[in-house]
Amino acid sequence: MAQKRLTIDYQEYASMAEMEEADRSLLERAVKATEGSYAPYSKYNVGAAVLLSDGTVVTGANQENAAFPSGLCAERTALFAAHAQYPRLSVRAIAITACRGGRMVEEPAWPCGACRQVLAESQKRAEAPVRVIVGGLSRIVVFSCVEDILPFIFNGL
Ligand code: THU
Repeated sequence: MAQKRLTIDYQEYASMAEMEEADRSLLERAVKATEGSYAPYSKYNVGAAVLLSDGTVVTGANQENAAFPSGLCAERTALFAAHAQYPRLSVRAIAITACRGGRMVEEPAWPCGACRQVLAESQKRAEAPVRVIVGGLSRIVVFSCVEDILPFIFNGL
């Protein structure tokens, strides 16, 4: 048996003002995208902004449904729309945040496991690392690739 340890490098920013311009502007698009959230059940308004290889940004927001499993997260709304509209472009980065009662959540709006798996597929299609920016009021966390938020990715058989 070998005892192993996994370490993850990531950047943490105390405020949006500290961030690199490209990351900040993508996160600003995610903040704006929360306005398109339809979340009458959870009242948790998530926004996502996907940056594509030609600079195009596609945004998405969570869409809930009275039949709960029929809804979809903001990240998958944005990623699927991006792939459907621009099948020949690759995803370079995604920014995610959420609001409650019109105010950005304190903690970063961590993507759920299913969205991480879909992001892994986007990275696989891109054949290049996809940057992941997760924002909250208290801090913003930036990962340089999907492995850093989804270690031991399942990438097919
Ligand atoms: N949600 C997202 O949009 N993204 C995530 O990664 C986690 C959860 C949404 C789904 C649902 O509309 C609400 O947040 C509460 O779970």
